Amino acid sequence: MSQSTQWWKDSVVYQIYPRSFNDSNGDGIGDLQGIIQKLDYLVELGIDVVWLSPIYKSPNDDNGYDISDYQKIMDEFGDLETWDRLITEMHDRGLKLVMDLVVNHTSDEHEWFAESRKSKDNPYRDYYVWRPPNQNGEEPNNWVSFFSGSAWQFDEATGEYYLHLFTKKQPDLNWENPEVRHKIYNMMKWWLDRGVDGFRMDVINLISKVEGLPDAPVAKPEDKYQWGSDFFANGPRFMEFMNEMKEEVLDKYDILTVGETGFVTPEEGKQFTNEEDGVLSMIFQFQHMDIDAQPGGQMGKWDIRDWKLTELKEIMSKWQVELYNKGWNSLFLENHDQPRSVSRFGDDQHYHKESAKMLATWLHMMQGTPYIYQGQELGMTNVHFPSIEDYRDVEILNLWQELVVDKGYDPEEVLHSIHEKGRDNARTPMQWDATENAGFTEGTPWIKVNPNFTEINAKAALKDPDSIFYYYKKLIQLRKDHNVIVHGEYELIWEEDQQVYAYKRTYQDKTLLVMANFTRDTLEREWPGELGNNNSSLLIHNYQEEPKVKDKVVTLRPFEAAVYLM
Ligand code: NOJ
Repeated sequence: MSQSTQWWKDSVVYQIYPRSFNDSNGDGIGDLQGIIQKLDYLVELGIDVVWLSPIYKSPNDDNGYDISDYQKIMDEFGDLETWDRLITEMHDRGLKLVMDLVVNHTSDEHEWFAESRKSKDNPYRDYYVWRPPNQNGEEPNNWVSFFSGSAWQFDEATGEYYLHLFTKKQPDLNWENPEVRHKIYNMMKWWLDRGVDGFRMDVINLISKVEGLPDAPVAKPEDKYQWGSDFFANGPRFMEFMNEMKEEVLDKYDILTVGETGFVTPEEGKQFTNEEDGVLSMIFQFQHMDIDAQPGGQMGKWDIRDWKLTELKEIMSKWQVELYNKGWNSLFLENHDQPRSVSRFGDDQHYHKESAKMLATWLHMMQGTPYIYQGQELGMTNVHFPSIEDYRDVEILNLWQELVVDKGYDPEEVLHSIHEKGRDNARTPMQWDATENAGFTEGTPWIKVNPNFTEINAKAALKDPDSIFYYYKKLIQLRKDHNVIVHGEYELIWEEDQQVYAYKRTYQDKTLLVMANFTRDTLEREWPGELGNNNSSLLIHNYQEEPKVKDKVVTLRPFEAAVYLM
């Protein structure tokens, strides 16, 4: 079957990070049975699809993004039998299941790598990227890894280095080798034949590296290793590999595919997702996620910068406009790698509910498939653990080692960056109720619970008709009821406004007007005249009392959002 049915265009996806979702057996780690227990909660929310972060066998150097066997389940999560039960229970409830596909790299404990490192003439040698030391006996090039330090690791057994863009326990696969590619395609088919409804493809646009693996330009002379994304992102054979995958696998199934693709422009987004000769249903682009980071590579993410609303408008509008009718957007503000959106873009102290709902409205009314990350529907917030000892994420721990231990940076400053941007913000256990450990586990959780679980939790949300949860539920339902939300053409209004983000969506004879106040101030704006206000109905808004519109002036309270249909 081709991808033509496109059920994913009017779907809403919910991402589960299984380690932190629900623990059914008291070992402190979430598991598949724990997910099964919570499926009715997802049905209540109204989502259509679950994207499951990796559940494959893994030594967990990067919480499952380091896979040692693609066809086995991680011991802590359960087994294939439980997985079969999970997918059956999901399909019985009308939910679809999208699995994470991590094929830029494996774990160093994968049997392919165990073989590969044994000798230069091992049949698996060429499954990975091996190079001899350079003339000075050092790393083959100067690339820095995403998680600090060189992207190369020396291996005693054969006296060569292997490439790892992520941790040294995540060696990059060599996609130039057709045998590697075909083994991956077969593995994908194996899962699809078991009933999987799609894949989220981890850092998929890093699979093709520039020939010769040249040195990256020296941007920061004080650093030994440099940022080389130009040599491995959207590389020369990326589209060729993806077309092959499409032909051999994707086109044979009616599935959702979403590529995690950093470093892409809308132009590339169109190329990857267009209906004629694109290769993916949609992609995750990260320009809006980088808005508060200093430019110039991965380290910039820790260097927080102020940004203006007009910058956000420019980024979002570009993607909305350029992909319209030519490709497909994904819409997200959170995932397991990002801080919590209400803490980052809203105000989690004084306007918790209002700002969480405003952000949800603003995002869900755009064109594309919305993604909700576990706990986002409760307005879960960033966590401020007092000590580095409380953190678990390998990216955070490597950063600490490099900056604080090796280079002597001020620990308080680094901890501040971790509080604002660290990935563990998203990975604290799901807050189910106000009992010990937020109802996540009866054991000791693998990472501490956010202390605000006594107020922010699912049980409380389900009891409160005005909760963020029910607001999300309503947004999801609106998407089902009004196809202008799915298909409408986007138009930014009030372009220069630094406080209110407003836009229209138009489809056939319907127009949607979305207004979102991104500030703590009460603001007055002139009602967009061309829309008139006679036939408009208020579809959704985030305060209990309706927004005030009088004499063509609309008053927006702090973080107020309102959507009108004309
Ligand atoms: C992106 C994933 O989202 C992240 O969690 C992981 O660390 C890297 N890719 C490496 O797989």
